Amino acid sequence: MSILAPDVVRETDAFPSARPMTVTVTGAAGQIGYTLLFRVAAGLMFGADTPVNLRLLEIPSAMRATEGVVMELEDCGFPLLRDIDITSDPVRAFEGANAGVLIGAKPRTVGMERADLLAANASIFAVHGRAISEAAADDVRVVVVGNPVNANALVLAHHAPDLPKQQITAVSRLDHNRAVFQLARRAGVPTSEVSRLAIWGNHSSTMYPDITHAVVGGRSGAEYAADTMWLEMEFIPSVANRGSAIIEVRGQSSQGSAAFATKEHMYDWFCGTRPGDWTSAGVWSSGEYGIPDGLVCSMPVTSDGSGWTVVEGLNIDPLSRRYIDTSIADLLEEREMVKAMGLI
Ligand SMILES: NC(=O)c1ccc[n+]([C@@H]2O[C@H](COP(=O)([O-])OP(=O)(O)OC[C@H]3O[C@@H](n4cnc5c(N)ncnc54)[C@H](O)[C@@H]3O)[C@@H](O)[C@H]2O)c1
Repeated sequence: MSILAPDVVRETDAFPSARPMTVTVTGAAGQIGYTLLFRVAAGLMFGADTPVNLRLLEIPSAMRATEGVVMELEDCGFPLLRDIDITSDPVRAFEGANAGVLIGAKPRTVGMERADLLAANASIFAVHGRAISEAAADDVRVVVVGNPVNANALVLAHHAPDLPKQQITAVSRLDHNRAVFQLARRAGVPTSEVSRLAIWGNHSSTMYPDITHAVVGGRSGAEYAADTMWLEMEFIPSVANRGSAIIEVRGQSSQGSAAFATKEHMYDWFCGTRPGDWTSAGVWSSGEYGIPDGLVCSMPVTSDGSGWTVVEGLNIDPLSRRYIDTSIADLLEEREMVKAMGLI
């Protein structure tokens, strides 16, 4: 029995097997990496009974800083932390990995356009895709955190063609958590009373936070969505522009909330979503809800620990359809951009 307290206490906090997990974290010395690693080592990503081996990948100029992160991890004396290796060689970093958390990329800064970000980051995911293909365990599950996540995940998949597409995901959990908070605030209830919210589309300002199926303090989210003035003028923009608002106020992109969202994505994927609820994740599309095949698109999903399952049978109202289609167009445009760059 572990004495570690998870970030979120829930009844399903049991990992199906206590085999050690080898976890590769890229961009380990960056701001999200730094915040996340202490949670992983504490057992908050794979369950409090699961030992972890950390493989930290950084660029050569950040190696010294990575050594400092390792020293701090050692100083915590985490009971579950078995082994740490640091390297700037992607193949060595992904050797035997059961989980890949791909943060290593440039963050967006004030005034930076998506095309600039794609140009700076997408090629990194081609290299990491090839390394995963060559060296990771067959069961490796990958989450892309480095922006633009959906396009980067496409690039990664293209360069790891033997890796089953269901094992490649993009994080949209930060949008999900932001939307949960904004809806809870509107309803005057704690976030624990919000369930069944869904983020659709791209992790960009076009993502659509869908509350029409949500349950909020025992009421239907559709009741709140019926106030279209609030929905379209306040709620959706507040979630869509939150990342930019944080950059403006903090001077840097989201760190703590991004690390938390990443941890939650992996926790739910490996250990299961809450009974009766779902979450959102960028997963490989195969025609669900009119989303074209072969995109990495955020959708409502559940997990029983073995993998994500897209929630089926939701009724999409006309307003939701319009927003989802806009975000799909955004994803298709990004796909064309990475094609034009010769990356897929
Ligand atoms: N998906 C989300 O919800 C979300 C939220 C916030 C930020 N992000 C994105 O996450 C990424 C990282 O953000 P951050 O704030 O930690 O940035 P950061 O600059 O603090 O850290 C990035 C780290 O990645 C490393 N890196 C760069 N290229 C690398 C490579 N090829 N291999 C390994 N490591 C490499 C850098 O040396 C740096 O230490 C950015 O792209 C940012 O936009 C995503």
